Amino acid sequence: MFEKEIELATAQFRALMEEQLARQNRMEAGAVAKDYTKKDKIIVGVCGGDGIGPILMREAKRLMEALLADELQSGRIELREIEGLTIENRLACGQAVPTETLNAIKSCDVLLKGPTTTPKGGTMESANVALRRELDLYANVRPVSVPEEGIDWIFYRENTEGEYVLGSRGVELPGKLAMDFKVTTDAGTRRIARAAFEYAKNNGKTNVAIVTKANIMKKTDGKFTAICHEVAADYPEIEAEDWYIDIMTANLVNESIRSRFQVFVLPNLYGDIITDEAAQIQGGVGTAGSANIGDEYAMFEAIHGSAPRMIEEGIGEYANPSSLFKAVEMMLRHIAMPQKADQLARAMAKCTEIEKKVVVTGTREGATCRKFADYVLENI
Ligand code: IPM
Ligand code: MG
Repeated sequence: MFEKEIELATAQFRALMEEQLARQNRMEAGAVAKDYTKKDKIIVGVCGGDGIGPILMREAKRLMEALLADELQSGRIELREIEGLTIENRLACGQAVPTETLNAIKSCDVLLKGPTTTPKGGTMESANVALRRELDLYANVRPVSVPEEGIDWIFYRENTEGEYVLGSRGVELPGKLAMDFKVTTDAGTRRIARAAFEYAKNNGKTNVAIVTKANIMKKTDGKFTAICHEVAADYPEIEAEDWYIDIMTANLVNESIRSRFQVFVLPNLYGDIITDEAAQIQGGVGTAGSANIGDEYAMFEAIHGSAPRMIEEGIGEYANPSSLFKAVEMMLRHIAMPQKADQLARAMAKCTEIEKKVVVTGTREGATCRKFADYVLENI
């Protein structure tokens, strides 16, 4: 029974392992991060994506046009419209990211992207996962803050391996069993750990929480933890603490201890899950931005998905653009424009934490996306 299938699956496993070994070896060879202070011109690709994405992007573009008026005028920054990253086009092309679209994205330095829809089941991979892989965006950086509670967290989620990298390439014996593969490489872990500890060092943080389930996922998470500690040895002034993901999700809702956490470093799937929880603590996924950083490219986006339900219910215009505005802020910091980023951060803080004159709730009771954007623009 299933002799043939097992044989095919074994051959597939072998190919996957060879492919992943090659990827690890490429990473080990190292790469140099782009230095934006040395670039005369920076090209920002802009694509709205699906669902509420184009609505949010419309406002984010207005925001950038106001904030970066001089730079756009002088040509120091170009906003380049990227076509074809819609679920309709992706399904028509049968590609998570159609080749033409990928090439257009690669002609830019950074990408500001609206959420894209991922079909459930089937074989179509998520556009996010494909872009993170194709552009090698290994650090998913997600800040969350609740100033009145002293919460100032930043998550360094590994973004190119773990449960995701082969998530669409598992094996199955129909009617009997299915197996997916989780991959953790030395070089892949080392670079995300380095990013987290460098951030801690450069931002006066004293603690990094390494969050895994290494008691159960012994090989992969065991490696992740061990390598994070190897990297931590280069940062003796920073405390590196091991935590399990289950208790950490509890800790985040434990008001008596949660504000003591600072920087988190964690494998892909745990990072995915816990950052939605963290965003909810901040005020909802509509309030959180997300940076996907690689050495050559970077992509900035909202933490949430395309919210097809909001579109079905006809309330897309009530979606919160804060998530994408935060993404713009992170992008500005990444391209070495910290003053512009601070200017936006101050305006956002005034509108969402201090005055709160226009509040978006994601329902008809709240303000529209446009009204909120106007409010932020008045305060830029
Ligand atoms: C995120 C999203 C994505 C992920 C989806 C859209 C594939 O949830 O960026 O957190 O799972 O990484
Ligand atoms: Mg997620």
